[in-house]
Amino acid sequence: MSRSISKSLLWRPWTPITQQASALQIVEARGSRIRDAEGTWYLDGISGVLNASCGHGHPKLIEAATQQMQRLAHYDPMAASHQPAETLAARLADLLPGDLNETCLVNSGSEGTEAALKIALQYWRNIGDDRERVITFEAGYHGSTFLGQQLSGLPFTVSDWTAPFPIDHVAMRESPRALRTAEGAEALLALFAQTLENGAPAAAVMVEPLLGLGGCVVLPEGFLAGLRRLCDQHGTLLILDEVFCGFGRTGRMFGFDHDGITPDIVVMSKGISSGLIPLAAVTVTSAIKETFKNEPVAQGLRYGHTTGGHAVASAVANAVLGVIAEEKLVENSAIQGARMLEGLQALQSHPKITDVRGLGLIVAIEADCPASAGAIAETAGRNGLLVRHERGVVRIAPPLTITTDETLELVDKLSTAVGLLG
Ligand SMILES: Cc1ncc(COP(=O)(O)O)c(C=O)c1O
Repeated sequence: MSRSISKSLLWRPWTPITQQASALQIVEARGSRIRDAEGTWYLDGISGVLNASCGHGHPKLIEAATQQMQRLAHYDPMAASHQPAETLAARLADLLPGDLNETCLVNSGSEGTEAALKIALQYWRNIGDDRERVITFEAGYHGSTFLGQQLSGLPFTVSDWTAPFPIDHVAMRESPRALRTAEGAEALLALFAQTLENGAPAAAVMVEPLLGLGGCVVLPEGFLAGLRRLCDQHGTLLILDEVFCGFGRTGRMFGFDHDGITPDIVVMSKGISSGLIPLAAVTVTSAIKETFKNEPVAQGLRYGHTTGGHAVASAVANAVLGVIAEEKLVENSAIQGARMLEGLQALQSHPKITDVRGLGLIVAIEADCPASAGAIAETAGRNGLLVRHERGVVRIAPPLTITTDETLELVDKLSTAVGLLG
């Protein structure tokens, strides 16, 4: 006997138990649009889970996945290698600046940040130092594994358990709006300088180039360059979490490209496979990998998963890189993002809107309170546009394939929703 779908046995993540039953049933997705079980089409303002960068159901990605699935789905990454993963590692080395050449493939952003930390901590052991302290933004989000969760100080993601090593969370004192000034950048850097100076030498600083879940905070220009200098002064590794921002989302290939820096470790996921299939990558400098030759007991990377670097996922990522180049998606992200931001900035005159900010195809509308942000998202949903809201901030991140007409439709629907706030 089949069970009724209203008695769902699926336990959805990050959703209160009382709201489990209220999920939209999504049955189809094409380009920038998705359709629910009732037949209603929506403009997808959040790219699935902020990851369908090439749009939904891109034929070239489906073809790459199908062909690879027919030839070789995957093989033991410990015992062997295969061409799709080798090609992806080589292409990432070409794409990333400086000495960022060595890639470890995993399955999710959280696994990626956790792998990055394990590599960073092991690096210090390898060179005979016992550094363990890690510094992150309090409002940063780096995932939901046991370790990933410890890295964030966000009240709604924070873990009840203690971290296995010291983690210092830097709390921003300015509002996101006040932060976007030369003084804002200086004040923020001073906080990181203080945290680096006080306490044991830090093993690593891990930051997102734009704080996504923590309020869609656009960091001031020059901040990452200043942070790179500070890390160099303290001999601390700089890890960039590009899980949300990477692969064109901010109008540049990587978020850190805006400041022209080279991190020591980069974590990538979401856009890397355009949401078609799970994949994440951690790329480190050759100098970091080289230290693994000095391990006291030669074990190599003490980390890995059965499906890490899955051949089908790697083949899709290789196709994604092709689509990004052929369809000029990084450029489109910058162009449509600027158009969207310009259109939405008019909403700043509304008494219940405190800020409109963005970078590339990440745009945020900050409301006076979470209820207003919720009302905007709800009205937009009723009018056929899906967006997210967290901490009083409406987050908009449509596929990088979005057209000018779709951008204008999105601006129009959000303007109507804000207008109805009263
Ligand atoms: C910046 C950042 N890091 C890490 C993660 C965790 O990735 P995943 O949900 O794939 O584990 C996310 C997910 O939203 C993210 O936005």
